[in-house]
Amino acid sequence: MTETMRAIVQDELGGPEVLHLAEVERPRPSLGHVLVRVHAAGVNPADEMNRRTGTFSGVPPFTLGWDVSGVVDAVGPGVTLYRPGDEVFGLLPFPSGSGAYAEYVVAPTRALVPKPASLSHIEAAALPLAGLTAWQALAETARVASGDRVLITGASGGVGHLAVQIAAAAGAEIVGLASAENLDLVVGLGAHAALDYRGDDVLGGLRELDIVFDTVGRYATDAMGVVKAGGILLSTLPQTLGDTVRVGAERGVRVAGLFVESDRLGLNALVDLVEAGRLRPLIAATLPLEEAAAAHAEPHGPGKVVLVVRP
Ligand SMILES: NC(=O)c1ccc[n+]([C@@H]2O[C@H](COP(=O)([O-])OP(=O)(O)OC[C@H]3O[C@@H](n4cnc5c(N)ncnc54)[C@H](OP(=O)(O)O)[C@@H]3O)[C@@H](O)[C@H]2O)c1
Repeated sequence: MTETMRAIVQDELGGPEVLHLAEVERPRPSLGHVLVRVHAAGVNPADEMNRRTGTFSGVPPFTLGWDVSGVVDAVGPGVTLYRPGDEVFGLLPFPSGSGAYAEYVVAPTRALVPKPASLSHIEAAALPLAGLTAWQALAETARVASGDRVLITGASGGVGHLAVQIAAAAGAEIVGLASAENLDLVVGLGAHAALDYRGDDVLGGLRELDIVFDTVGRYATDAMGVVKAGGILLSTLPQTLGDTVRVGAERGVRVAGLFVESDRLGLNALVDLVEAGRLRPLIAATLPLEEAAAAHAEPHGPGKVVLVVRP
């Protein structure tokens, strides 16, 4: 008999209302994959874009969600890393492998790492996509180091609040851009200064920065005036870089647009920071799986929104 599970499914592209709970076939793990009993699934802007446009998953029906934390339920042939009962978390293959808004999801073993006991499933589900984006940008691409002067835009957001902590752990001197109500939060995360992005000429006082990490997609052009020759401008929205690639080449500034990748090494680096007390995801809101539409519809505070699949 076919086993089933509850999952959030959409049969058409559109607004949050297209997300609905359905009883669907439970997947089975194939070679090199495990079946994860999902405890929590992180929500990301990429989920919302995928819901509206199908950019990453194509034509519905499909199930959203790349961020997962849960327990290994079964292992496919050849799997030696995990056994049923192991607690794991990770980023399902991005962008093709979504499906975490469900009671069970199949994942390649090397997209996952053991969940540290110091993180709840909710916190662990908040970390992979946003944390790996920040890690791959700042640590791996920009090689942020002690004393580097770094600007992070969207510093209170899902990616930004983790990026501030990662750069602070490296010993960087950080300026974060956020809304007025989140400035104290950004300083509390380790920024040396936080600027209200609604202010006039907000980047006006900045010069000779080593790294600009734009997670908002509005600052690439202005960043050219504040990043030094030999520095780097990174964006999570490569489509917004426009002419800055050419201008950067003329000025000796590297310009890089980044798409996050599933990455076990990166996840382990994030776990090391968590265990050293240097990194903690901030949870803006938790909602039960069946309220996925509300998780997409309503604005939430700084940090990450997480769907709770098993309380
Ligand atoms: N390429 C990739 O692989 C990749 C990976 C992850 C994310 N992304 C993209 O990166 C963006 C950020 O992701 P996220 O998860 O961090 O989103 P998020 O949680 O929604 O955070 C966005 C943040 O931007 C801030 N913000 C809004 N308008 C701003 C402005 N004009 N100036 C400065 N800050 C502003 C907000 O700050 P306040 O709350 O203080 O107003 C908010 O906290 C999204 O567009 C996402 O799709 C791309």
